[in-house]
Amino acid sequence: MSQPVILDGKATAAQIKEELANQVIDIKSKGGKVPHLAAVLVGDDGASRTYVNSKVKSCEKIGFDSSLIQLDSGISEADLLAKVKELNEDDSIDGYIVQVPLPEHIEEQKVTLAIDPKKDVDGFHPENLGRLVLGLPTFVSATPNGILELLKRYNIETEGKHCVVIGRSHIVGTPMSILMGQNKNPGNCTVTLAHSRTKNLKEVAASADILIVAVGRPNFVTAEMVKEGAVVIDVGIHRIEDASKKNGFRLIGDVQYDAVANKCSHITPVPGGVGPMTIASLMQNTLKAIELRK
Ligand code: GUN
Repeated sequence: MSQPVILDGKATAAQIKEELANQVIDIKSKGGKVPHLAAVLVGDDGASRTYVNSKVKSCEKIGFDSSLIQLDSGISEADLLAKVKELNEDDSIDGYIVQVPLPEHIEEQKVTLAIDPKKDVDGFHPENLGRLVLGLPTFVSATPNGILELLKRYNIETEGKHCVVIGRSHIVGTPMSILMGQNKNPGNCTVTLAHSRTKNLKEVAASADILIVAVGRPNFVTAEMVKEGAVVIDVGIHRIEDASKKNGFRLIGDVQYDAVANKCSHITPVPGGVGPMTIASLMQNTLKAIELRK
């Protein structure tokens, strides 16, 4: 097999952000409201801080307004819910996210339910997930939305294909499996949602024309699990020790990249594949929030 097409998430995300920046210029010239994203960060978990900072930075680059709300890890659930209510009622804010994970004493689901679905740019609220299932306008959460954008922008034909999604999380695998089966483009696939209890996972995966892997286990998918010419989307991202690197680690995905790349027609690299698309998706949802609130 010749070398696969690399689905370049970094370049695609940069292109989406440029398109959004142009839309902001257009909005401003017409005297419209510039999208405003707020991000709530509870505590000081390093990874969460990095993610939230890059979300805020992306807003600045595009020309969106942004607010970073940093709260102490000891904040009570009641006080966090009061903050959420305040954000729901603040007309200057179009959309917001509460970065997860939250400290253990706070029930994440209670917080998700308290977010106004019209400002839920993460698409985590049950109302938005329900709308997604029904094919109604909604916020599709960042990772599934980013994958759809990659498939669309690389003109990958999905209609009638067998799509296997491995992993059934609420924010990636489950919505992805629903979206790929819908009568849309990308979509119209015959979908299999595989997970830890799937029997003959190797055979199931190897029957996929489009294989979307979100299991959260490094190097889980081997070459023998991939059909010749398949499209492979790797959602995983893991740090593994690597003494040859300056910082002592490198990033790998859920897919054994080198072996699988020799077999498939298209593949997302890690890093630089699905990851960068997630922030671009959040920005797209923030712009959409203005429309949904009208
Ligand atoms: N933590 C890791 N990814 C995400 C995300 O997409 N949204 C929120 N709110 N928290 C996260």
